[in-house]
Amino acid sequence: MTRKVLNVLKGETVFPPPIWMMRQAGRYLPEYRQTRQQAGSFLDLCYNPELATEVTLQPIRRYGFDAAILFSDILVIPHVLGRDLRFEEGRGPLMTPVTVDEIKDLDITGKAAKLSAVYETVSRLREQLPNETTLLGFCGAPWTVATYMIAGHGTPDQAPARLFAYQHRDVFIKLLTDLADISAEYLIEQLNCGADAVQIFDSWSGVLDEDCFEDFCIKPVARIVKKVRETHPDAVIIGFPKGAGMLYRDYRAKTGVNALGLDWSVPLTFAQELQQQGAVQGNLDPLRVVAGGKALDEGIDVILEKLGQGPLIFNLGHGITPQAPLENVAQMVNRIRQAGA
Ligand code: CP3
Repeated sequence: MTRKVLNVLKGETVFPPPIWMMRQAGRYLPEYRQTRQQAGSFLDLCYNPELATEVTLQPIRRYGFDAAILFSDILVIPHVLGRDLRFEEGRGPLMTPVTVDEIKDLDITGKAAKLSAVYETVSRLREQLPNETTLLGFCGAPWTVATYMIAGHGTPDQAPARLFAYQHRDVFIKLLTDLADISAEYLIEQLNCGADAVQIFDSWSGVLDEDCFEDFCIKPVARIVKKVRETHPDAVIIGFPKGAGMLYRDYRAKTGVNALGLDWSVPLTFAQELQQQGAVQGNLDPLRVVAGGKALDEGIDVILEKLGQGPLIFNLGHGITPQAPLENVAQMVNRIRQAGA
């Protein structure tokens, strides 16, 4: 059995590189939009093992990606912690902002077990996926999840969470620690149900100064990695500290993740340096997929040229956007797969 993505994550070089895309199950796919409608709300879809399995498989059927990522959302964790999460059309996630007292009273005991529908989806996926397709589980990193809990919605720069962290430091650290502990339990159960590897999404790590990055991003992620490896010593973990810039340099060593997800602002010469320490994943600008044509081809070629000689998983630098034309995704996959010929 050869699961290429898994092997590359462990440090092997494969050319042409295996491919998957963040948010590959999503609104750019007509079959996703149809299932999404059938499910009712977005959260209903996340908690319906049959339909969540179906949407996870859709991009694999259409494009033959080398990895499938569990369909769910990073915000199911605050949801099982009792936050009133809902998704409104065109507005993204919404919930009542968490207060200082609510954080003090937060008790994570037994809460990860409430996500049994998600674990059921992971089990079904491992049964239904082609044997060679790597199955990825995931969670949000504590900092990124906390930003939504504190603001109650998406913001351009996470000012509410940054300010809260300066004003209520001890309480904020308690929140991150609780989120790290429940996230570790959540990932362990995904691994128990058949996930080959897991990714920790820190989509908002790029808005922090160096000290805050250390305390809010590095330390909680290191805590998750350590806890997961207590029960799964060989667990393969991808860290995605989006926007970390120079701070990508020590991220792998300090957190213990096996592989680094790179956003598109990471220069490829720096990416080569990061690749000396292990696998990298990325980092095409998602808008090159929207543009197509030469912009797409050139973006792909330079990544293959600079990173193709080492352990690389081809991915986008962030999630694919709903505007991406289907034929451009096909163009991308074909160009990468033909690169070895
Ligand atoms: O990658 C995949 O295909 C797996 C599924 C997945 C989703 N969200 C589905 C989703 C994953 C891994 C996520 C992670 C996630 N969710 C992150 C981290 C990665 C990132 O993109 O930065 C974050 C920050 C969230 C929180 C979240 N969920 C936001 C901000 C939004 C609204 C933005 C938007 O695109 O509408 C969501 C909703 C969401 N999660 C959608 C999907 C497919 C779109 C909602 C819909 O279908 O109506």
